[in-house]
Amino acid sequence: EFKPLVFSGVQPTGNLHLGNYLGAIRKFVALQESHDCIYCVVDLHAITAQLVHDDLAGHTRAITAAFLASGIDPKAHIVFNQSRVSGHAELAWIFNCVARIGWMNRMTQFKDKAGKDRENASLGLLAYPSLMAADILVYRATHVPVGDDQKQHLELTRDIAQKFNIDFSQRIAETGLGVDMLVGEERVNGYFPLTEPLIGGPAPRVMSLRDGTKKMSKSDVSDLSRINLTDDADTIAKKIRKAKTDPEPLPGDVEGLEGRAEADNLVGIYAALSDTTREAVISEFAGQQFSAFKPALTELAVSVMSPINDEMRRLLESPDHIDDVLRDGGERAAEIAGQTMKDVKDIIGL
Ligand code: ADP
Ligand code: NA
Repeated sequence: EFKPLVFSGVQPTGNLHLGNYLGAIRKFVALQESHDCIYCVVDLHAITAQLVHDDLAGHTRAITAAFLASGIDPKAHIVFNQSRVSGHAELAWIFNCVARIGWMNRMTQFKDKAGKDRENASLGLLAYPSLMAADILVYRATHVPVGDDQKQHLELTRDIAQKFNIDFSQRIAETGLGVDMLVGEERVNGYFPLTEPLIGGPAPRVMSLRDGTKKMSKSDVSDLSRINLTDDADTIAKKIRKAKTDPEPLPGDVEGLEGRAEADNLVGIYAALSDTTREAVISEFAGQQFSAFKPALTELAVSVMSPINDEMRRLLESPDHIDDVLRDGGERAAEIAGQTMKDVKDIIGL
């Protein structure tokens, strides 16, 4: 069996928001206790939707600072930015030849991001999931903590791993580079693991504060729709006060949240921020008005986020330290990725 290893990435585009924090970073922190983890600022992904950026390196440092400020330990684990390790782009090319165009065309994120003028989207945007598969599989990672929006890309990552394992099964056997693993009921020998997403928790998809049908996103034009990791206490308070809700009080049980997307979202956020369940939150606030729940949520959000915010600011005052973390992490990541690329070339016969 493959040794358990966690990999995940965050793009250095725009401000990190509560969705990124609860869907991804807070899980990254928790997994450090039980797993070896590799956390990556995926700067090569950032140029797929928009090629020219003002300050990509600055954003990369800011995301790194957010990782560290949230409690990720860059000595016990690996923190780096993607473009430092050539294996990501190199394996992505090979995966571009493994994956089929039809697989990419089916990706809902591509359809969303490309919009109506699909012919004019970058080829990189179409191939984004192939690079994401390479990010994960160049470390032969077994688990990927992500938000619910990334589920389809993780399925594609497994499809790529499986096709590679099958297409090269003979070479994998000859080289002895494979690992025995269970696929369904069957014991097979493959080079890449079939990576599992880690999506659960009470807020796998944090929704916009202005519209319960849309996910909270960096690209939403309304700044009131999201809480940024860098928002101060007054801004957090204002955004929660203005968050859309319905006129009913909180229900007596979680079933009562059905069909109430905005209420459900706020309860999920509260549960995730306090490491508890929706059930526990509902039993605490059953029957209360949002005018009582919102200040409690604000207090909780501020108490979790403002120490992170302060620490992020402190870290960003010494960019050299952040660059050292990325350099050191990049060197350790490159060692693992280099071995994988050596194996892959051997298997393919390059
Ligand atoms: P974004 O989706 O905001 O552009 P990224 O693509 O860099 O950001 O995603 C970073 C991580 O944050 C991913 O694991 C993604 O699934 C997670 N994530 C993004 N938005 C949300 C959300 N609204 N709810 C939960 N997780 C989210
Ligand atoms: Na995303």
